[in-house]
Amino acid sequence: MKKLLIANWKMNPKTETEAEEMAQYSDKDGVIVCPPFPFLPIVKGALNKADLGAQDLFWEKDGGPFTGEVSGEELKGFGVKYVIIGHSDRRKYFNETDEEVAKKTATAMRAGLVPVVCVGESRQEHDAGKAKEVVKKQFEFVLGALPVGVNGELIMSYEPVWAISSNAAEAGLVAEAVAEAPMVASKMIKFMKTLAEPYGINIKYIYGGSANNENIKMLLAQDEIEGFLVGGASLIKEEFEKMIIAVS
Ligand code: PGA
Repeated sequence: MKKLLIANWKMNPKTETEAEEMAQYSDKDGVIVCPPFPFLPIVKGALNKADLGAQDLFWEKDGGPFTGEVSGEELKGFGVKYVIIGHSDRRKYFNETDEEVAKKTATAMRAGLVPVVCVGESRQEHDAGKAKEVVKKQFEFVLGALPVGVNGELIMSYEPVWAISSNAAEAGLVAEAVAEAPMVASKMIKFMKTLAEPYGINIKYIYGGSANNENIKMLLAQDEIEGFLVGGASLIKEEFEKMIIAVS
């Protein structure tokens, strides 16, 4: 099975011209491009093979007095297929809670979008041996909120917060994150599968955290990992092109 590559551009790039160039080099089967909202139109126009994703949505279903928010219907109607939910940036900077992440996941599925839900432990939690406990709690909120009778897809992205490139760089832990993460991810995904078993739904499990051209082979060798959520490396043409070739 071909593994997915989901490009999470976060709050990048600065201009529409750059966004268009990035979409062009990302435009391959099995790639999902998640730009900031203002660049959805230009990216949509530039993609023929890759799919379009967004980086967030609001949990309310219909329109209403929710200044600054975007609904699942609006995204779906525009042609967005996937939506990242509960990224650690959002949990950290916007205090997104497990309840909110779960509500957003349910709303996305009802709107016919495929949620890409992020879970993962911090460095302190990892070091304290609490990774499974943290991921279990985050994941069970999502599982418990899945809408009954909606036969949608769900992608779970295990992203150890300490292995995300910007966090790892800040803590001087890049080499460690790169070396350790594939095995850690593989084990955690196996654990998540056991948690999801009673729910009988179709879930894809991917990994995010310093995935790049250097470690992609090592990551690809882990059967449990069905794809990658890529931040920093998706912004660099040469880097992302090599990753696309590696998964093809
Ligand atoms: P990274 O980001 O690839 O730069 O570590 C991944 C993510 O935050 O989704």
